[in-house]
Order: sequence, then structure tokens, then C-alpha cells
Amino acid sequence: SFVKIEKEPVKVLVTGAAGMLNLIFHLVFLGQIGYAIVPMIARGLMLGPDQPMILHLLDIEQAGEALDGVSMELIDSAFPLLKGVVHTTDVVEACKDVNIAIMVGGIPRKEGMERNTMLSKNVSIYKAQASALEQHAAADCKVLVVANPANTNALILKEFAPSIPVQNITCLTRLDHNRALSQIAEKIPNNVHVSDVKNVIIWGNHSSTQYPDLNHATATTISGVKPVRELVDSHWSKTEFITTVQQRGAAIIKARKASSALSAASAACDHIRDWVLGTPKGTWVSMGVYSDGSYGIPSGLMYSFPVTCEKGIWSIVQGLKIDEFSRAKMDATAKELIEEKAVAHSCLD
Ligand code: NAD
Ligand code: LMR
Repeated sequence: SFVKIEKEPVKVLVTGAAGMLNLIFHLVFLGQIGYAIVPMIARGLMLGPDQPMILHLLDIEQAGEALDGVSMELIDSAFPLLKGVVHTTDVVEACKDVNIAIMVGGIPRKEGMERNTMLSKNVSIYKAQASALEQHAAADCKVLVVANPANTNALILKEFAPSIPVQNITCLTRLDHNRALSQIAEKIPNNVHVSDVKNVIIWGNHSSTQYPDLNHATATTISGVKPVRELVDSHWSKTEFITTVQQRGAAIIKARKASSALSAASAACDHIRDWVLGTPKGTWVSMGVYSDGSYGIPSGLMYSFPVTCEKGIWSIVQGLKIDEFSRAKMDATAKELIEEKAVAHSCLD
């Protein structure tokens, strides 16, 4: 007889999974990224097609009913890999024994909103949830902070959860990385597809000071693998390429009247998948991680670096040549992170 051996389910927490009561417009919004990401996870896009999971969904009290609805829809979807749904507005219950935590909960930036308004509201959430994760998540829990200001929220989470290994706390810059790949693919003529482009780098903050760097990127063309620098004009790579990627989040907010959601959800799946299952040979990705001083970036910051991943461990790619132009941009985004860190600490005092 045939006995199917299934892997043990992995417990995946998604915060901000339901909906927020928008008192100005009297509308209940579904937590946009949360709503987009849960079916992606349940279909195996985050952990692989043979990895069952139990989803833990957390949102605030006012969103409890919407959370019920999302949970009903997940059940109705009859996803073969989905072995259970825990939906709750209790942070302790939500964090219990989770192996992966996707932290999306918070308020998004709206058109015209000051960054510091968002910052002060969101960092206090990350301080509170740090303790819950530290006390109740599985010891090996991998954390991805998506909610903005993503780097600084992740830093606060790290500081208020000192027993979580620093290797296990990251923030999302993969969306910026994917945006950079696709801008390049569109720029190179002759059918270069986004999957033919690799090894761009997002340095620094997930904000408009980030430095999208194509100096080390390659593209597979009909005449072989070429440095991207040889395929695009250098003026474009120092100007429009950078500003388009830096401003893409704002462009989407302007167009959709809401911040990016499906692309952010997809990037979060990419981030965890590569972290857990490994990056393909010869390929790196961008992840916001705790700086160890690599490339002269001060430690004590969550900064986006090029990383490779193997067996669930990320390592910063070393030894890349940094020219003067890049150096200035890498330092400018580090400076913004130092300032954000100070603002965050002053909000929490
Ligand atoms: P949204 O407002 O649609 O959803 C946020 C959800 O978080 C809501 O359901 C809300 O009720 C919930 N929430 C608020 N406080 C919470 C708490 N204390 N605990 C649990 N849940 C809580 O927002 P969205 O569009 O899904 O965006 C979510 C976050 O992700 C925002 O901060 C946004 O700026 C950020 N974002 C980051 C990236 C990135 O690449 N890093 C990309 C896009 C958006
Ligand atoms: C994005 O990059 O799309 C989001 O972080 C939205 C924002 O506030 O820029």
C-alpha cells in the first residue's frame, strides 16, 4: 500500500491580515497586503509546493469581523496545503509557536502624509509586538517586517526582542529589488525579460533615499550574459533608473489612491522563499538586515544589502567594488536611517 509522508505544517503569522476601519470615509478597507498575501502563502508560493502550513492571522479589535470573513474565505478556497487557520485579535494567541512572522500590521502612508506621522504610529506597534514574538513564537522564528517605515520598525522589533537572534529579523526591500529588475528589463531592447536580469542591489532604506544600484547586474541576452552597464546608457542608470525605483511607491499611491499591495505581497513571498529555500547559485537578492559594518555601513541599523541565502541563513555578499558615486548614495541612505532611528526612539520615550 502507498503511504504518503507529509511534512509537518509550518505556522505562519500574518499581522494586519483583515481590515481597518477608515473613519474618514466610513469604509471598511480590507488589509490590502494581508488580503493579497494569504492566498499566495496557502498556494505554496512562499514555502514551496510540498510544505503544508497553518496560518495565524492577527488584526486589531475593530477588524475582528473582517478577519472572520477572511478566515471563512480561506476555508472556502479548499487549499490543499492549508492545514488550519487561527484568526484572532489577541497578539499572544497570534504569536504562539509561529515559525515565520510576516509583519504587515500598521497604517500605510496616504497621499501627502508626512513620513514622521506614520513613523510615530507604527514604531509603537512594533515595540509591543516584539515582546509578544519574543515570548511566544518558536525559538527559530524568522521575522519579515513589511509595514513602513520597514527598516526602522524592524530595528525597534530587534531592540525590544533581544532574545530573538538578530539573523532572524529582516525587513522587506525585495519589492524595490523587483522594481529595479523590471525597469532594466524594460529598458534593454530585444526581448530581455525580467527573469533574464539578476544581481541588482537595493542599498539602505525602503524609502526614497534607497540606492538602486545596477553596477553589478547582468542580463542574459541573445548574445550571452552581459553586464547591464554595457546594455543601458550610463546617464539613465545614474538618473531616471534610480529615481523611478525610489519613487515607485509614491507613484502607485498617487495612481491607486492606496499603496502597493499585490506587488508587495508577492515580494514578501519571494523574500521568505529565498531565505528559507536558498537563493539560486550565482544570484543574490536584496534584504533589509542588521548591519555588521559591511561596506562601511554603521552597525546598529537595519540596512538593505545584497545577500545570498543557504539553509535558512543569509550572508551579505562581500567584496563588491564601490565607486565614489555609489559610496555617496549608500552613505546618504544610511544617514536617513540614523535620523529615523533617533525619531523612533524619541517617539517611544
Ligand atoms: P492596510 O491599511 O490596508 O492594512 C493594514 C492592516 O494592519 C489593517 O488591517 C489594520 O487594521 C492592521 N493593523 C493596524 N494596527 C495593527 C496592529 N497593532 N496589529 C495588527 N494589525 C494592525 O495597509 P496595507 O496597504 O496592507 O499596508 C500595510 C503596511 O505595509 C503599511 O505600513 C505600508 O506602508 C507597508 N508597505 C510596505 C511595503 C514594502 O515594500 N516594505 C510595500 C507596500 C506597503
Ligand atoms: C511601496 O514601496 O510601495 C510602499 O512602501 C508605499 C510607500 O509608502 O512608499
